[in-house]
Amino acid sequence: MNIVDIIIKKRDRHKLTREEINFFVSGVTDGTISDYQTSALLMAVFLNGLDRDETFALTDAMTHSGKTFDFSSINGTKVDKHSTGGVADTTTLILAPLVASCGVPVIKMSGRGLGFSGGTIDKLESIPNFRTNIDESEALQFAKESGIVLMGQSDGLVPADKKLYALRDVTGTVESIPLIVSSIMSKKIAAGADAIVLDVKCGSGAFMKNEKDALELSKQMTEIGKYAKRKVTAVISSMDQPLGMNIGNSLEVIEAIEVLKGNVKGDLYELTLTLGACMLKNAGKVLSIDEGKKMLEEKIKDGSGLNKFRELLIQQSGSDSVVDDYSLLPHASTSKTVYAKEDGFICGMDTDLIGKASVATCAGRIKKEDKIDYGAGIIMNVRIGDKVKMGDKIAEVFSASDEKCEQAEKLILSAVHISKNSPDIPKLIKHIIE
Ligand code: URA
Repeated sequence: MNIVDIIIKKRDRHKLTREEINFFVSGVTDGTISDYQTSALLMAVFLNGLDRDETFALTDAMTHSGKTFDFSSINGTKVDKHSTGGVADTTTLILAPLVASCGVPVIKMSGRGLGFSGGTIDKLESIPNFRTNIDESEALQFAKESGIVLMGQSDGLVPADKKLYALRDVTGTVESIPLIVSSIMSKKIAAGADAIVLDVKCGSGAFMKNEKDALELSKQMTEIGKYAKRKVTAVISSMDQPLGMNIGNSLEVIEAIEVLKGNVKGDLYELTLTLGACMLKNAGKVLSIDEGKKMLEEKIKDGSGLNKFRELLIQQSGSDSVVDDYSLLPHASTSKTVYAKEDGFICGMDTDLIGKASVATCAGRIKKEDKIDYGAGIIMNVRIGDKVKMGDKIAEVFSASDEKCEQAEKLILSAVHISKNSPDIPKLIKHIIE
């Protein structure tokens, strides 16, 4: 078998066999296939697609390109959740302790932010001393003791995705449904959960800009889940505006704690309850999503979600004092208020631009190697549908310098649209596919 023939076959729109896909993935993993040939095949896949069999074969090959975790010794259905990436999406920090406090073990492997999209691991690492490099045996021990583990991507897990994703990132081949499906599902399957809830973002701040693509991505991911004998639910949710009001690592930790304390409602709260309820339903803890939401609301009211969050912080060497004193979290030295330039209604937001504004404050990174400023970010003051007057505060930006604050201010002003007419409010939860 030879990689050039495989590239030509996909270039000419023919179906690849399982053996050819295995050959490609093992060659990428052991380095015998060069980056330029891998990139050529990725572009051929981006342009000509993969059918269901090819996508299943690619996911399988990627899943087994490294080690896989086995959590079968832990009682109960282990649940995981994955977001396809968005802005101000701090649901994991809230729902993981809430779901675990209902007695359902949550073992979650998360990633770092890249581009306009934030990452759970960066948020957790903004908490002084919090440790995310947890190996399989420690994860097992924590899951047995507390029922919750939040950890970074293990090096040995799905090494093929590390190489493929890095090349996709620099060759314009990220937004391909079969490549996204295999990338996400291989990592979730290898990470060992029995049930997975996928938050498929749709809108201006997501890879999937429209509902049709988000539905197709969800359908393919749930099919793969079935094939891999995992219970998968996909929730298609709006990324037409930032999910929460805080964007940036320590700022999002604060908002998550405020939700756990019962002080913050809104879209972040609503989506968190829905995703958490799907996790409880997939674990067999409740019969309906409504029942799950009620159970989670109780865990906020009686403080057990917040207590589980404290337990997580202590377990992973973080400072739990941050829960009572936000000044212990990193904060930026400079800030700037962004004001509305006209009267009207907030009628739309280019959410990816707001994500880029947060990168301009140094809360996120453009390249994997970039250093981030944990205290930097943005607090939004408006949502779509709000009425504003010229001079009203629409956001506050936080960074290490006036220059960075000004760059972020410009991006926010071009991202937030104001019109004379009251707009339709985007629906937060568009579909739930079980
Ligand atoms: N997240 C992933 O893990 N992989 C993709 O391809 C896209 C989003």
